[in-house]
Amino acid sequence: MIQVAVSHSVAPELEARARDRAKQWGLPFFERQKNRGLPAGTFLVLGGDGWTLRDENGALRFAEGLARLRIKRLEAGETDDVLVKLAELRAGDEVLDCTFGLGADAQVCAHVVGPKGRVVGLEKSLPLWALAKEGQHQIVMHHADCVEYLERQPAKRFDVVLFDPMFGRKKKASPAFELLRAHASHEPLRPEAIAEARRVARRWVIVKGARYSDDLKRLNLKAEPQSRYTDVVWARVSGL
Ligand SMILES: C[S@@+](CC[C@H](N)C(=O)[O-])C[C@H]1O[C@@H](n2cnc3c(N)ncnc32)[C@H](O)[C@@H]1O
Repeated sequence: MIQVAVSHSVAPELEARARDRAKQWGLPFFERQKNRGLPAGTFLVLGGDGWTLRDENGALRFAEGLARLRIKRLEAGETDDVLVKLAELRAGDEVLDCTFGLGADAQVCAHVVGPKGRVVGLEKSLPLWALAKEGQHQIVMHHADCVEYLERQPAKRFDVVLFDPMFGRKKKASPAFELLRAHASHEPLRPEAIAEARRVARRWVIVKGARYSDDLKRLNLKAEPQSRYTDVVWARVSGL
């Protein structure tokens, strides 16, 4: 069970906001005693510097920095960002990121589509959705299962639909990614997700997978040719 808490000695407005969010999210608010740490468990904690997801293994916050390097390269005129290239992303596009996570891909998309475009992010895990929703305001976030959300969309609603599910990545990762992994939804991407995404996409459905796995094959997708030096593989299928 996840609980909402505040960090030590926060302003009363922040505590009121944390209580309000706990109610909205349907989570209990942990009444913290003065000068006492948080007990074991999982907490969404509001402090003066925003929200943090904490458990016994560490802390995770929404960081815009994850996409910064890729955005800098785009600004410098580099054209080798695989997602941007495969999706043929351009200013004004509407993108649906079905598996938001820490939002690095979505932020790169938001940078390219610019103010005339739109990026919508979906995240099934409540704590990860809460971090993303509270941590940035550029991307509209929905707490949703992507298949259920796609089924409610009209045909050709977005230019590009993106999937980057948790599959296949068993390798040791950074502490932040380990925390993401612990709280993420791990269910496999189902073929109906791809079928629904093709109905909803005007241009491309993009799927990211792990190189040494049968993730893409299982979905009847073929990896696009790319550099030998990366563990990530990408597939794309056209909208219908
Ligand atoms: C590998 S992460 C995505 C990383 C992301 N592309 C980034 O750049 O930070 C996958 C995320 O998708 C979420 N997820 C998995 N299945 C989902 C589903 N059916 N609907 C919505 N989100 C889902 C997981 O909870 C996890 O946060």
